[in-house]
Amino acid sequence: MSTHHVPGFTAPASGDLTTVEVAGRRLAVTVDDGQAYAFDDACTHAQCSLSGGEVEDGAVICPCHFAAFDISTGQVRTGPAKDALRCYRAQLLDGALTVEVPQ
Ligand code: FES
Repeated sequence: MSTHHVPGFTAPASGDLTTVEVAGRRLAVTVDDGQAYAFDDACTHAQCSLSGGEVEDGAVICPCHFAAFDISTGQVRTGPAKDALRCYRAQLLDGALTVEVPQ
């Protein structure tokens, strides 16, 4: 794992998402109760951008076919997606975002 600092990060409003580029990966990021959550932006169903969706009750809802993934674990809560979403450890400290990704 390597820790990456994301310069110029602006936290999205509660329930919203934004995207960041980390080590060549496009990640969706949301912040819930001061905790940042980062995961692949591409839905595992048909690759729609999850950052165009919304977060409800600890799950990100894909805007295309409404699959829901747990933002902590990436597990599928509601299909049609079958495969879990890859999640990354993220930390928000004084407005600065760091994300750990595999090397
Ligand atoms: S692309 Fe996300 S549910 Fe189909």
